[in-house]
Amino acid sequence: MAYLNENYFKLKAGYLFPEIGRRVSAYCTANPEAARRLIRCGIGDVTEPLPPAVVTALHRAVDDMAMRETFKGYGPEQGYEWLRSAIAQNDFRNHGLEIADDEIFVSDGSKCDCGSILDILGNRNKIAISDPVYPVYVDTNVMAGHTGAANAAGAYAKLVYLPCRPSNGFIPEPPRKHVDVIYLCSPNNPTGAAASREQLAAWVKYALENQAIILFDAAYEAYITDPAIPHSIYEIPGARECAIEFRSFSKNGGFTGVRCAFTVVPKTLLGRTTTGERKPLHPLWSRRMTTKFNGVSYLVQRAAEALYSPEGKAQVRGLIEHYLGNAQVLRGGARKAGLKVFGGVNAPYIWVRTPKAVSSWQAFDEILTQASVVITPGSGFGSKGEGFFRISAFNSRANAEEVARRLQELKWPARP
Ligand code: MLT
Repeated sequence: MAYLNENYFKLKAGYLFPEIGRRVSAYCTANPEAARRLIRCGIGDVTEPLPPAVVTALHRAVDDMAMRETFKGYGPEQGYEWLRSAIAQNDFRNHGLEIADDEIFVSDGSKCDCGSILDILGNRNKIAISDPVYPVYVDTNVMAGHTGAANAAGAYAKLVYLPCRPSNGFIPEPPRKHVDVIYLCSPNNPTGAAASREQLAAWVKYALENQAIILFDAAYEAYITDPAIPHSIYEIPGARECAIEFRSFSKNGGFTGVRCAFTVVPKTLLGRTTTGERKPLHPLWSRRMTTKFNGVSYLVQRAAEALYSPEGKAQVRGLIEHYLGNAQVLRGGARKAGLKVFGGVNAPYIWVRTPKAVSSWQAFDEILTQASVVITPGSGFGSKGEGFFRISAFNSRANAEEVARRLQELKWPARP
């Protein structure tokens, strides 16, 4: 009988969102009436249709595939040259950031890339993650055998947790001890906080001094409204020598169902071998992609390219403004309900403190059963998320307004 990867047995219950889905389905089956008024503000999944520029590009790409002269089979695993170039030019070089076309690797999602990047990192690294955090960073390290077992609070041995609290504005500070790999997400999922230039500069300084690598998840960069907040880690001098950046079309172009993202691996970024040799990561990631991945489909890459056309850019702006408008509505509703609210200004997530003595999962249950609204319990993102819940602003405006109204009608259990 074949042996199993026993690291999987260390994982806590199910992945957060399927677990929420399971609880919501059970509730809906038992309460069909309530199920009809259910509004989902749990997983951050877009609700609005694709931008028209994307739809046109998709139709055209289908026509290309229908004719012998323009038909495409396998494409380059790293992405078509025209898309890599559009990305590097529009997202980086137009902003004065020196990123070459071949430092862009097109993929089918940032979640996959955040997990797959571990393929090219060794297993001796000390890994630092924020708490609360996007669970993928933790779970993929557990699966790869980089952690020990979890304790009762869900914290895994061997990981270095960086607490994110109201007192540090939910942005982690560099630790006093040495770590080799740091996951940073800004604007942050789940807290909605966005790191300032000074905060990111402190991290780049730390990474350069410690010869560490920053894995910078910028999936929500399009939601930044404050002009002082960096959109890319490469806005910080020195980041080309210490950071990989993950970007996604899911939350700006509405591609959660289309699937397209990209990862930036600068050629100047080095790691070391166990014998002390310094080597670039870029060829390793290229080798990994060409071996384990056959590229994103031609149709989807044409769809992504359309996001960089003048019409595409304007339509993406419209989508972002729509979701940020929802965030304002939800922030207002939660505030009027007497709750303490964070985030939702540079991010599509609102991070809400639960009333005193109400746990995150209790808040989830109360909001589900009283208001028929699905939120995400903060404790699902880590032990420091206990006492908070996350509301996603990805919804129609009518639903956001309705959720804001229902939040104000909640009756919280009396304090013990
Ligand atoms: C979330 O709700 O945290 C996100 O939708 C997860 C993701 O983007 O994978």
